[in-house]
Amino acid sequence: MVERRPDKTEVVRSMLTRTRLSLKLEYDNCIITFMNILNNSLTFIEVCAGCGGLSSGFMEAGFKPLLINELEKTFCKTLRKNHPGANIVEGSMLDLDLKPYKGRVDVLQGGVPCQAFSQAGERKGLDDPRGKLIVQFNKLIHDCEPRLFIVENVKGLTTHNNGETLKGILELFGNNGLYKVYHAILNAKDYDVPQKRERILIVGVHNSIQKEFTYPKKSDKIVLLKDVLTNVPESIYPPYPAHKEEVMKLVPQGGCWVDLPEDIQRAYMGEASIASGGGKRGIARRLSMEQQSPTLMTSPSQKQTELCHPIETRPLTVREYARIQTFPDSYIFEGSMAKQYKQIGNAVPVKLAYHLGACVKEFLGYK
Ligand SMILES: C[S@@+](CC[C@H](N)C(=O)[O-])C[C@H]1O[C@@H](n2cnc3c(N)ncnc32)[C@H](O)[C@@H]1O
Repeated sequence: MVERRPDKTEVVRSMLTRTRLSLKLEYDNCIITFMNILNNSLTFIEVCAGCGGLSSGFMEAGFKPLLINELEKTFCKTLRKNHPGANIVEGSMLDLDLKPYKGRVDVLQGGVPCQAFSQAGERKGLDDPRGKLIVQFNKLIHDCEPRLFIVENVKGLTTHNNGETLKGILELFGNNGLYKVYHAILNAKDYDVPQKRERILIVGVHNSIQKEFTYPKKSDKIVLLKDVLTNVPESIYPPYPAHKEEVMKLVPQGGCWVDLPEDIQRAYMGEASIASGGGKRGIARRLSMEQQSPTLMTSPSQKQTELCHPIETRPLTVREYARIQTFPDSYIFEGSMAKQYKQIGNAVPVKLAYHLGACVKEFLGYK
């Protein structure tokens, strides 16, 4: 079949539409930049934003979002609901073009998935299609040349492929000296969060800034579960089946399967599982009000990573999850129960993000 060539009118019309769109973007950007100068505020762009833990903390620290991107429709609904007026761009970060923002972005950031960047044993690195999102993030750095960029990821990235994966990413992000790249593992419990949650934070500083970056200093406060699990608004959770509830009732605060009577241990775990050893302290685990929570997962009730309420015999509710991730009670999570847990479990705790944002703000010379 021969493709019909568009006639001249169609070509001109499409050119005009594109020009109008890009002029509108330019216009919107000018207004935002102008308002930011007036308000003395810093700007950020975020990709892979999830439900907005990292972005909420940065906004709380005084940053204004120019653009927030996320792939999942439901997560974008959450972002729109909680940040009305923000420019939420739904879709893959692979389709973003940040050139129109060049020179206007203080921070470019994101929880860019990169576990598959380079599989153990292989060293395909940047040529591997699974490394695409990291390569795209680097393209976005080139597009808008932020003063500083941040990539957040799981701690496992440091040891992945014997450290080669991280080494490759740091080298790429350095862009032959355009950015000085730092990395550190931060634990949320050190930043007013009642949760042990370690994450790697990669920070790149533009070479026009002749200062060494230092990560936020640890807070003096220690926040425990008893500080956040009181007067929590009611919300949904997946109740235990009756037989599991009977078992969980026997586990004391801060305990797990090893605290069960031996016959119940055997029935719940299975002889083979007990014999194989390895601790398995996440199984039948009940949290303790006197401690911080272990890392929240994307579901509160998985066999290997049980997160039972310290006092009541049920999994943590959605709102309790949000409290532990330091979201305010007013933050609304869209979608099914499973999606709500997933969004919260994936997030950077808001208070950790706030501390990081405040530290970056000071580093960039703002009060
Ligand atoms: C770890 S979560 C980010 C959590 C976020 N930093 C927060 O604090 O709430 C990673 C997110 O990346 C999103 N994602 C994955 N691939 C993407 C892509 N190609 N473009 C945009 N977002 C993507 C996922 O849907 C997920 O919400």
